[in-house]
This record gives sequence, structure tokens and C-alpha cells, in this order.
Amino acid sequence: MGIGHTRWATHGEPVDRNAHPHPSGDGRLALVHNGIIENYGPLKKELMSRGHVFDSDTDTEVLVHLLEDILKNEAVDLLEAVRLALTQVVGAYAIVVVDRDNPDHLIAARKGSPLVIGVGEDKGEYFIGSDASPIIEHTRNVIYINDFEIAEIANGELLIKTVDNEIKTPYVEHLELQLEMLEKAGYDHFMLKEIYEQPRSIRDSMRGRIYPKEGFMQLGGLKEYDEKLRHAQRIIIVACGTSWHAGLVGEYLIEEFARVPVGVEYASEFRYRNPIISEKDIVIAISQSGETADTIAAIELAKERGATILGICNVVGSTIPRMTDAGVYTHAGPEIGVVSTKAFTAQVTVLTLMALHMAHLRGKMAQTKFVELLNVLENIPKLVEETLGCDEATKYIAEEIKDATNAIFLGRGIGFPVALEGALKLKEISYIHAEGYPAAEMKHGPIALIDENMPVVVIATRNSSYEKVISNIQEVKARKGRIIAIVTKGDTAVKALADYTIEIPDADEAFLPLLATIPLQLLAYHTALLRGCNVDQPRNLAKSVTVE
Ligand code: G6P
Repeated sequence: MGIGHTRWATHGEPVDRNAHPHPSGDGRLALVHNGIIENYGPLKKELMSRGHVFDSDTDTEVLVHLLEDILKNEAVDLLEAVRLALTQVVGAYAIVVVDRDNPDHLIAARKGSPLVIGVGEDKGEYFIGSDASPIIEHTRNVIYINDFEIAEIANGELLIKTVDNEIKTPYVEHLELQLEMLEKAGYDHFMLKEIYEQPRSIRDSMRGRIYPKEGFMQLGGLKEYDEKLRHAQRIIIVACGTSWHAGLVGEYLIEEFARVPVGVEYASEFRYRNPIISEKDIVIAISQSGETADTIAAIELAKERGATILGICNVVGSTIPRMTDAGVYTHAGPEIGVVSTKAFTAQVTVLTLMALHMAHLRGKMAQTKFVELLNVLENIPKLVEETLGCDEATKYIAEEIKDATNAIFLGRGIGFPVALEGALKLKEISYIHAEGYPAAEMKHGPIALIDENMPVVVIATRNSSYEKVISNIQEVKARKGRIIAIVTKGDTAVKALADYTIEIPDADEAFLPLLATIPLQLLAYHTALLRGCNVDQPRNLAKSVTVE
């Protein structure tokens, strides 16, 4: 029996003193914790007044001292002590506690932070994790622990009860995940593998959902909500990080195809500004992990106000899909690299499907156009494959920009969220400060930054804003910025102006994000490598952020 935890610092810097597990003062208990104990201040003060001495700056340590205190003062066992302690705690937690005096006992509990128990083949063999990926090499049978539940593994037996002392019957799910999906398959990094997986992950996200020959599509998960989708007067998308960028693409597509107003909100902001929302609204929550605390909080608020909640998630069985009314999974497969790549294009694929589905339901698109777009969509994985051919070009350009301290990414229309996503990828893994901007907004501020040292990446494909983007490129050139342009295959006008160009295949404008994002992911990857950065685990970032 053993416990460990990779800590994402909330309270206290990442040093040994703050590392988990945290022992109790008497050394009897040890505890790991994911989440935040919000009332740790008053609890700590109270415990200190009773003689407890703290060694770390963490909120977590308070919990283990609280347990020790309860065990010393009340005639209860560890399970009951955990239950009592948790009734005093405000905040989010997934915890695991072990007891030196009862080495065959282990207690785990959850509120707000994910917790999964893997059931091994041997009797009494259990694995506990924040999600299924680290468990899968041992077992595919898992139990998802719900909020306010406590699990006790004692002498090889598992018992689950609620904080209110109600015994639960565990529901064991069998996961289809394959171990190979969690390995690098010969690639140097997960990020590169996941970039190269995109033709497959996009195809998988459409599989069984579109039938271009029959002129038909279906989203099984939304079937019961077709009426709602037909009559919705407004859609609100809530998400964080890269998923928020996918949301911006979704806004463009749903408004363009289905003619429904869409608002895209940072989940963290939405929650704290008393949003106007009612039963008539549909909220779409987008999340790769399905565990992002801010997105979960936004869903809770929207639910309270009666909105219909639909989810677009990648991790099957995670918290968000379990709390939404309905949803559509992206079938990107496990994404291990901390920065999101294939999950983004899978989210965009699903949003494209939703936009087309709504357009069809609401009678906003002629059948011929509908069938035409289904055909283009079916062919997208092939075009993504072709786009991956830009790897060498991005490597070359990475050499040229690797010493930059700043970079600007510009795009217009549906190219704007692509610019945001390109800038986010570069800053996340290469630590070059990068900003994404609508190309026309550049003249209202960022243009002041442009000089011969500034790389300016422009989405300049041949679409509705092509001519306007060319004017923006001229403006950058006049100020000696170094222009890296993403262009449509065969382009000549932008090529004549730009310092470097990367060609992507021609496709309907609506599908631009699925193609134009690829070179930006590769550019970030190669630049980060040349700067000696850890691309799969960039500093300070976490794959799923389960704290608010
Ligand atoms: C973290 C990750 C990002 C991700 C964001 C939202 O910040 O590092 O890559 O985009 O969370 O995560 P979600 O799982 O909700 O999509």
C-alpha cells in the first residue's frame, strides 16, 4: 500500500517542505490532497491554539492535523474521523489517507476534485487516481467516486459511503481505453504524437455521425434535445483555455449555419458576474478533461437557473459529462501532452457537426449546401494529413524565431480564434510571450510593438477576408515586422510580401481552423524544442485544472 501525488502549487511554493504526502504531527497519518481547502485559515488557527505545529505553507496540512485532532479527542476510527473532518471543510478535495497503526487501511474521499478507483484482478487489489489513465495499465474496471463519497479499503475490502453515512453500492465501469493510446508510439513527445494523430482523431469524432451519400447526419447524444435546439433563442458556450478557443470557432459556425445568437464565455468569469440566463437558453460546456473546476462551477450556476446543459467532452465518464443533460463526446482518445492539440481539433469537429445539425433542424440551410458541407467534412482528415506535410517548413521557421521574446498572431473572422490558439500554444510551451489579435485591431495598439525583431504570424488563407488581411500584412511590412503567413496552396500575392509562408490545402472557409491550426501547433512544438523546453510538461501548467 502506498500513496503519492504530483502537486500543482496553490498554497506555498513548490519545495520539499510543501510536497505531499503530509504527515500528522504524531506521524501516524499521511495524506495526499488535490484541491483547495478554502477555510484552512480559521481551521489552522484553531488547531494551532490547541498545540498543533505546522511544517508547510499548504492548505492540505491542515486536513491531516484536523484528522489527528479528531482521533485524539473522540473515540472514533479513521473512517469516521475522515467523515467528521470533511463536514468541517469548505472547498474542493480528493484525498487519500493512510494510517501507520492500521497498515491495511486506506481512506479516499472526494468533493469537487476527480477520484477514480481501479478494481484489480486479484482480490483486494485497488488503484486510486485522479483519472483512469495511470490505472489502465493495471485494470480497465473502474469506479468513479461521486462528490461527498468516502471510500475505505480495509483488509482488501472496499466500502463506499456518503458523508451522511449512507452506504453506496459501487458501480464498476469497464473502460475501452487501450494502453497503447497512453504511450508515445515511437514519437519523441506526446505532443508530437497527438499532433500527428489528428487525421484519425477528427475522423473518429465524425464516425457514425455523418452520412454524406445519404445526405444525412445524426448526433445520438442530442436526440432528445432536437426540439430544444430547434427553438433555442440563444446559446451560451462556457469553457477555459484551448476549449474556449474552440468555443469561439463554434460561435462563428453556429451563427453562420444555424443563425442562432451565440455568446462565448470564460467559465471563470461567467460564474462570478450574475449572468442573465433562463430555461430558454442552451449552455454548451466544452472541456477536454471534463474536470475543469471553473467550467464545472459555470455549469452548476446555469443549471440552477434552469438552462439546458449540453457537453462536449473528451474523457468518457468524467465529471462534466455526468452532470450535463446531454452531450456529444469528442473521440480524440487520451490526450497526455499538457497543451491541447488533437482535443482542440476534435472539439471544432464536433462543434461543426452541431452547427450543421442545428442548421438542418431549423431549416436554415438548403439540402444541397448541407450535403456539400458533409462531403467536405468527410474529406477533412485527408486534408489534415496533407497539412502535416508542413512539418519541415515549421522546423525551419522555428529556427528563425526561436530567439524572439515576443510574437503576434493575427487572423480575421474564423481565423481569429486560430490566431489566439496559435499564440497560446507558443507561449505555453516555448515561454515566448505571444498575443493573438484580430488582424484589423492591430492598428489600435499592438502595431506599436512591431519592429524588425517581432515575428508576426498571419492567417492569410484565400477566404472572405483575404484582401483585407493582405492590407494588414502591408502595414506590418511597412514597420519591418517579420511576417510568417499561413496561406492557401498556390498563393502568390501573400508569398510576395511575407518572409516565410506555410501552405495549407484549400477548403471551405468554415473548415479553416481544422487545417490552419496544424502548422501553428508544429511551429510552437519545434520552437519550444529548440529553446530546450519540456514540451509535454511545461512549467506551471497542468493538464486538468481542478481548482478554481
Ligand atoms: C488547462 C490545460 C489547457 C486546457 C484548459 C481547459 O489549462 O492546460 O490545455 O485547454 O485547462 O481544460 P479542459 O480540460 O476543460 O478542456
